[in-house]
Amino acid sequence: MAKIIDGKAISARIKDELKDEVARLKDQGKEASLAVIQVGNDPASCVYVNNKKKACAYIGIGSESYELPEETTEDELLALIDRLNDDPKITGILCQLPVPKHINEDTIIRRISPAKDVDGFHPMSVGALCIGEKGFASCTPAGVMKLLEYSDIAVEGRECVVVGRSNIVGKPMALMLLKANGTVTVCHSRTKNLKEVCKRADILVVAVGKPKMITEEYVKDGAVVIDVGIHRMDNGKLCGDVDYDRVEDKCSAITPVPGGVGPMTIAMLMYNCVNALKED
Ligand code: GUN
Repeated sequence: MAKIIDGKAISARIKDELKDEVARLKDQGKEASLAVIQVGNDPASCVYVNNKKKACAYIGIGSESYELPEETTEDELLALIDRLNDDPKITGILCQLPVPKHINEDTIIRRISPAKDVDGFHPMSVGALCIGEKGFASCTPAGVMKLLEYSDIAVEGRECVVVGRSNIVGKPMALMLLKANGTVTVCHSRTKNLKEVCKRADILVVAVGKPKMITEEYVKDGAVVIDVGIHRMDNGKLCGDVDYDRVEDKCSAITPVPGGVGPMTIAMLMYNCVNALKED
């Protein structure tokens, strides 16, 4: 039987540690405040944004909410970001993605000051990660690294295969595993012999966005399987990119969906918000 990596429990531990740290920093006169921007009212984004605000309240981080109408122009959004960049009380800024189609996502990401980029999406943050300098790390892959760390799963010298090459998950995930001295392969939609490549993995991280795509045929005996995907099935239940029931018996450890990687993203956002405070 595989060990189930309990992201809910690990994220709760991290949030409690951060709560103590925030209290200590407050005693030194340092207070974090996160500006959360949402344009339009995509239902999934509303849930995510609400959870982020709740996590801030739990940990003791201030949050300011900017809920802007769908028709907001790119210039109006950029003006708000400029104002928040210049506001010394605001220590972190995030703009929930996706933004409406008439707004260029890259322009928005680049406008947030790298000093307040708690999502870790700015090219400066990604570049810092790439060359091993200090900077904010993208929250989901950082959460995966914490799951491995808290589960005592070593990365050094092990075969790590990442399936998916998005800017937000796949690419930073590969860089973080590399930084931890893993031997890293990144697979994508044009990869040949995907099953064989995945079967090499001691640690298999899947972020492809296809429900239950990874079956036991992709998994080596005793591998660690990390599932970043989340999908709602027709029966209303959630599932990941990994076919959990078919893979579970084959691996030594696996993240469930829900309750695996998902809760870690917010925990790492909170981690970045606290770290933003320590930088200055
Ligand atoms: N949309 C989906 N995930 C994320 C995230 O981690 N940050 C932001 N800003 N938007 C998202």
